[in-house]
Amino acid sequence: MKRQVEVLPDVAGIVERALGLILERAEAAIAQRGSFSIALSGGSTPKPLYEAIAQQSLPWDKIQVFWGDERYVPPTHPDSNEGMARRAWLDQVPIPAANIHAMDTSPADPAAAADLHEQHLQQVFQLAPGEFPALDVVLLGIGDDGHTASLFPHTAALNVGDRLITVGNKDGQPRITFTAPLINHARCVLFLVAGANKRPALSAIFAPQGDADTYPARLIQPNGELWWLLDQTASVPVP
Ligand code: 6PG
Repeated sequence: MKRQVEVLPDVAGIVERALGLILERAEAAIAQRGSFSIALSGGSTPKPLYEAIAQQSLPWDKIQVFWGDERYVPPTHPDSNEGMARRAWLDQVPIPAANIHAMDTSPADPAAAADLHEQHLQQVFQLAPGEFPALDVVLLGIGDDGHTASLFPHTAALNVGDRLITVGNKDGQPRITFTAPLINHARCVLFLVAGANKRPALSAIFAPQGDADTYPARLIQPNGELWWLLDQTASVPVP
């Protein structure tokens, strides 16, 4: 599907637009398939979106929450993506604990944690070996370096094509992350990007030609919908 790029006045505008897109897709997914699956991103931009979702009256028992990536810390750690989403949203609503599919970062070996989460997704989605699930919505951000999820430039994770989950590497720090093919199987990928510091990477990501090893967000070419919600300060000419 063609990339949809929208420029909103500010983060509040991004949140409002993203909320609307998510609610529409949740309603449709629940009507068509009886449930709605969403993978959350970390960082700072999505926090107000999670707070806004928590204010909605939704059939929480029909909503399945995943994370597109996780820092290799316990959920109580200030850097934890799981911890941030629980505080901003999940602890505020009556969503069943079984519907929250956090990436378990307790194993000593991050590769074992990636295997565990891969097996968990295969169970949740009843997948045959090698099969990729189509999540309804995958939320993403980008770093100044053009990374997305925990797919960082010039790392081995970028080349993993036959798995759902792999180990990311940020300057030697391990992460657990969705692979690019798992993200690309989503029905809808929604990038939220705010801040002038993202403009150089965004220009390289949007350029007709470019190097995905240097700008990993270029790997995200989903079969489904691809939305880029930018604030004014992040917006760049779209070729
Ligand atoms: C993470 C995120 C990461 C994030 C970008 C943008 O774990 O940090 O998943 O990919 O989306 O770094 O972060 P900001 O929204 O804070 O700019």
